[in-house]
Amino acid sequence: MLIGSSIIQCSVTYDKKAIVVNGHRRILLSGSIHYPRSTPEMWEDLIKKAKDGGLDVIDTYVFWNGHEPSPGIYNFEGRYDLVRFIKTVQEVGLYVHLRIGPYVCAEWNFGGFPVWLKYVPGISFRTDNGPFKDAMQGFTHKIVQMMKDHQFFASQGGPIILSQIENEFGPILKGSSDHSYVNWAAKMAVGLNTGVPWVMCKEDDAPDPIINTCNGFYCDYFTPNKPYKPTMWTEAWTGWFTLFGGTIRKRPVEDLAFGVTRFIQNGGSYINYYMYHGGTNFGRTAGGPFITTSYDYDAPIDEYGLVQEPKYSHLKQLHQAIKQCESALVSSDATVTKLGRYGEAHVFSAGKGSCAAFLSNYHMNAPAKVVFNKRQYTLPAWSTSILPDCENVVYNTATVVSKTSNVEMVPSGSVVYSVARYDEDIATYGDRGTITALGLLDQINVTRDTNDYLWYITSVDIKESESFLRGGKLPTLTVDSAGHAVHVFVNGHFYGSAFGTRENRKVSFSAPVNLRGGANRVALLSVAVGLPNDGPHFETWATGVVGSVALHGLDEGNKDLSRQKWTYQVGLRGEALNLISPTEASSVDWIKGSLAKQNKQPFTWYKAYFDSPSGNEPLALDLESMGKGQAWINGESLGRYWTAIAKGNCGSCNYAGPYRQANCQSGCGEPTQRWYHVPRSWLKPRGNLLVLFEELGGDISKVSVVKRSSVH
Ligand code: GAL
Repeated sequence: MLIGSSIIQCSVTYDKKAIVVNGHRRILLSGSIHYPRSTPEMWEDLIKKAKDGGLDVIDTYVFWNGHEPSPGIYNFEGRYDLVRFIKTVQEVGLYVHLRIGPYVCAEWNFGGFPVWLKYVPGISFRTDNGPFKDAMQGFTHKIVQMMKDHQFFASQGGPIILSQIENEFGPILKGSSDHSYVNWAAKMAVGLNTGVPWVMCKEDDAPDPIINTCNGFYCDYFTPNKPYKPTMWTEAWTGWFTLFGGTIRKRPVEDLAFGVTRFIQNGGSYINYYMYHGGTNFGRTAGGPFITTSYDYDAPIDEYGLVQEPKYSHLKQLHQAIKQCESALVSSDATVTKLGRYGEAHVFSAGKGSCAAFLSNYHMNAPAKVVFNKRQYTLPAWSTSILPDCENVVYNTATVVSKTSNVEMVPSGSVVYSVARYDEDIATYGDRGTITALGLLDQINVTRDTNDYLWYITSVDIKESESFLRGGKLPTLTVDSAGHAVHVFVNGHFYGSAFGTRENRKVSFSAPVNLRGGANRVALLSVAVGLPNDGPHFETWATGVVGSVALHGLDEGNKDLSRQKWTYQVGLRGEALNLISPTEASSVDWIKGSLAKQNKQPFTWYKAYFDSPSGNEPLALDLESMGKGQAWINGESLGRYWTAIAKGNCGSCNYAGPYRQANCQSGCGEPTQRWYHVPRSWLKPRGNLLVLFEELGGDISKVSVVKRSSVH
């Protein structure tokens, strides 16, 4: 803290009850806001809203692959300006929990690992492995040093009160016995002498002095691994993430608040909402496969930075009620008494007659009338009432008084003009590909994930004597890919596409194809839709056409093409021409006028302009009329788009009862993601360049810029 001109150092320790700041046990309320998921221009407003919502701490992961895109080449600019983000939190007056990882999961590409790390000789991720440990230590050290250089640790007078090393290694550990890696990671982190505590989440055997913490929809069952550590919940999931083709998952705030009170009444003293603001997976940062560009997460602050009601205010009121109980909560363990069959009272006292009570009803359908301290209370089903003086109810988790936001995407008045089209070269592109190999190569081995697209091209000789050439049944081409999508072309003709899912990344394509006598060109455009971020050794999972490619039904039977010569071309022609760049976009012959908008042709680049809409409401691109691809504005990537229709189970949503991701789905039968956040700070008043690459076919004339309006 900076008071006057002197830096006041702050001590952060812990005991069995709580994190202890400057000698005071604290009930700390925290929220995750990941800095690269919004723009620096949005940060201050988001953090102020978090403070106003009653939070004490902002929690963020550190995103290694964003900071070190190539070995030794660092990026701490723009959305990756970590120092500016932490400074902003400090200026607003909140603390920071810095979850360095550097494995972060987070539905982030490759779980935050740079893809080049996979190619360090002899490496094995997240194990007791020399090359991995060297790299992990190097990055962790760099971040800690950077924070120290800015006096950012609380021990130096800065806002960082906690740091995390690793992330949910426990579930991985179960399958191995890699305690030595955990012990090494703990020792390495502690050895960095930050002067503030370290945590490991979901890591039951986190060695002292590291605090093991809980992540989940509920954590009231959780106790840390030593009696002298505080009970901390590092991820209280406020909603859930979204997959292209999946539904939107919402978590009712009544249940979230009930989860929080249950945790607190059982002795919990630190809660972090994951996410408090989810934001946007700009560019190719989404993990995967198939994580959407929106990372809204049903969080209290929505993707666009607007408060989402009633979630935001209902939690704010909860925070106020909890803070009224703080001194009692940190001073004593609860005395628990039964209140009828489904009820419980947890009573805390701070001495001198001070008393706080949490009265809970665990029944999923029925309210309970209970007597506590000779008074009658009615508790709605599945709820807790908070009585900071053991007498008056100031809050009940199931009683929502805030209004619900009425969110609409409204026309902005800004039209998209000067539409032009450029057809991606699918007939000959890749013929002079840079790599030739016998057999099928893993996509990421070739692209190093610099790009979503990889062409696999080969030639097949067909004998003039084949009977299908004289009216017989056409042969069938089959393609097995490890994922995530593939578009199939023969002799420049498009035969169709196949897509995997997150659960089953494998893709199979099969269709009759029209071949000619002599040489035929088979070209497969393989598409990665975000690299996996989760699962044991996900870095070893294959991507691309590594299965079999074969022709069936020839006179000789089947012809396996998998082992023959293939040519590889990374990326699209339009990318090589840098069509997304405002300076390069005019370097090719675009098709203009009405022809540009004609027919829903796949594999097409579109370029158009729009003026910045007036006002300051957040903006989005409405891409409902498009299929699948990527979008750029003034050279900045909005992310992947895909209007795949959401399939799921959109039944009713009841707040009561244990919440699971499948409980409250919405959006069935509509595109999973229709709107794509356009940060205002990317725009200039006139002539903003919009570029789309469309894989499936869309109608550019219906694309528009809309404003997000939220009234409550
Ligand atoms: C947790 C993980 C987070 C995030 C979350 C799901 O297990 O620690 O990084 O992936 O799941 O949103």
